[in-house]
Amino acid sequence: MPAAWHTPISAQPPLFGVLISPKRHTYTLLCQKKGFTVNFLDFAGAKVSADTGSSSGKEIDKLTTYDLAHEKGVHINGPILDQSYAAYECEHFAVHELGDHFLFVGKIVLIHYEENCLEKAECVNATMIKPLLYFGKDRYITINPQTLTIKPRR
Ligand SMILES: Cc1cc2nc3c(=O)[nH]c(=O)nc-3n(C[C@H](O)[C@H](O)[C@H](O)COP(=O)(O)O)c2cc1C
Repeated sequence: MPAAWHTPISAQPPLFGVLISPKRHTYTLLCQKKGFTVNFLDFAGAKVSADTGSSSGKEIDKLTTYDLAHEKGVHINGPILDQSYAAYECEHFAVHELGDHFLFVGKIVLIHYEENCLEKAECVNATMIKPLLYFGKDRYITINPQTLTIKPRR
């Protein structure tokens, strides 16, 4: 399922969190499994997001229905989509109920990424990658690399 609500949490250990409503079939799966995968799509993935975000894995196999080419993770039995420019394999670390969502915290055990996705300093290459960003109300947007500004911290 697409999840717009997600965040890095810790560098050491490397933790990443996703906020999932208990209404989602994904919530049920996350409660049963020992880990999860997170796929980062570029702007071309807007339709995949709309499709997978308006259907439930309880009724259909989204990977087959939407023809999502993928491999299984090395450590985690979750999909690594061919079209993702980066993906995390996360082991279950913690879960917290926060209002009407649950924060599932995963420890990143493997990162997959496209070769051209990173610059030398291991920053995401703003000219190569057009990340899919959710702007609310079914609107998607991406970045303009011309706005990239570097301001060293004092
Ligand atoms: C762009 C987008 C972002 C979404 N972000 C979240 C999110 O962060 N957390 C959440 O619980 N649901 C989110 N949803 C809703 C689920 O993705 C949606 O209900 C999905 O169909 C659930 O699938 P499932 O029943 O197979 O788990 C989002 C939907 C879209 C389209």
